[in-house]
Amino acid sequence: MDHFNYKDGQLHAEDVPLSRIAAEVGTPVYVYSAATLTRHFGLFRQALDWTDHLVCFAVKANSNLAVLKLMADQGAGMDVVSGGEYARAKAAGVPGERIVFSGVGKTVSEMRQAIEGGIRQFNIESEPEMRALSALAVSMGAEVPVAIRVNPDVDAKTHEKIATGKSENKFGIPIAKSRQVYAEAAALPGLKVVGIDVHIGSQLTDLDPYRAAYAKVADLTRALRADGHDITRLDLGGGLGIPYRRDNNAPPLPIEYGQVIRDAVGDLGCEIEIEPGRNIVGNAGVLLSSVIYVKEGEGRDFLIVDAAMNDLLRPAMYGAHHDIVPVREAALGAELRPFDVVGPVCESGDTFQKGTQLPSVAADDLIAFRSAGAYGAVMASEYNSRPLVPEVLVSGDHFAVIRARPTFEEMLSRDTIPEWL
Ligand code: LLP
Repeated sequence: MDHFNYKDGQLHAEDVPLSRIAAEVGTPVYVYSAATLTRHFGLFRQALDWTDHLVCFAVKANSNLAVLKLMADQGAGMDVVSGGEYARAKAAGVPGERIVFSGVGKTVSEMRQAIEGGIRQFNIESEPEMRALSALAVSMGAEVPVAIRVNPDVDAKTHEKIATGKSENKFGIPIAKSRQVYAEAAALPGLKVVGIDVHIGSQLTDLDPYRAAYAKVADLTRALRADGHDITRLDLGGGLGIPYRRDNNAPPLPIEYGQVIRDAVGDLGCEIEIEPGRNIVGNAGVLLSSVIYVKEGEGRDFLIVDAAMNDLLRPAMYGAHHDIVPVREAALGAELRPFDVVGPVCESGDTFQKGTQLPSVAADDLIAFRSAGAYGAVMASEYNSRPLVPEVLVSGDHFAVIRARPTFEEMLSRDTIPEWL
């Protein structure tokens, strides 16, 4: 459930009509609902309330400082994958002991930044990384908590670009080799082994891959304990999918996911960490856009809108679907006709949908791309020198611009022409 509904003839974010945001901020613009964010975060907490846990929001899904602050105020931890994300989490007020650091290519300077600023644990993804972290920790006189990310070789049954738990993927250490790697970790100075980490992919719509992966983690926990390791924490990753289409095929709920976790690892007495991103923020955001032209083509009509692939990359990158709805409720009752919905960028890939049945919207009408709160703004670029898309946060009947649209001047000011030119 989200808080984007029709009221008084138009689509609202909570109690704010989207036309008001468009008039004051312009389009395209991402609009997030604070009530939806809070609700979704609460569902994960509730799903794990049977045990000690920390829900670490995956910052990569939406890294706006205001969104992170809202999460942090609810008690969220953060899962970060770069020095930039770590800096954002800290700037949003998250204490280091609630930040976990994931990712296959952490640099020594990123690791140093996190050790200096405080860290809950590093999720180690390879032996060279483990050795580099050990050397760094020793040089800093620190002892850093680590979990090792294991690759359970499980098919997450999701889009191949976002599946991470198969042996051919670059992530983690093959589970079969993990006892040997844990033995080395325990022997290395500067590292303190605290747990096991696993993440098998994103937009999972079936719980079976989780069952398979977590069963392997449970076996490994027992084996590692038998080897003498003190495994007190399991980081079970993120990835629970969201409904991108309003049909009957909704993915499982956080509460059902929590039960899978309980069944698989509930008897081990470990503190549980999870790293959801999309499920918390995906349906808490829309991309609001205006129709620029309706262009009649040969055998098809194009709806040319002011949002483009640089603002919302997912359709071009993964062939992803985002429901498109008119902001004016009356348009919903209008006769439907097929459109190709496209942006102004000079590539045919700048197509959001093909042959979609939409009400006959006209130039200047507002439309909303739903389910755009996760992996939307964070993946935006300035391609075609289109200023980075702004973001707005709504709470009740008020809203704030949480990232302003840069002026052309601001956009150009980052370039420099060397004096010898
Ligand atoms: N933890 C780790 C280690 C991850 O790699 C990811 C996502 C997450 C947690 C959060 O997964 P989530 O709960 O959001 O599914 N850009 C793609 C998604 C890439 C996901 C990468 N890793 C998309 O737009 O679909």
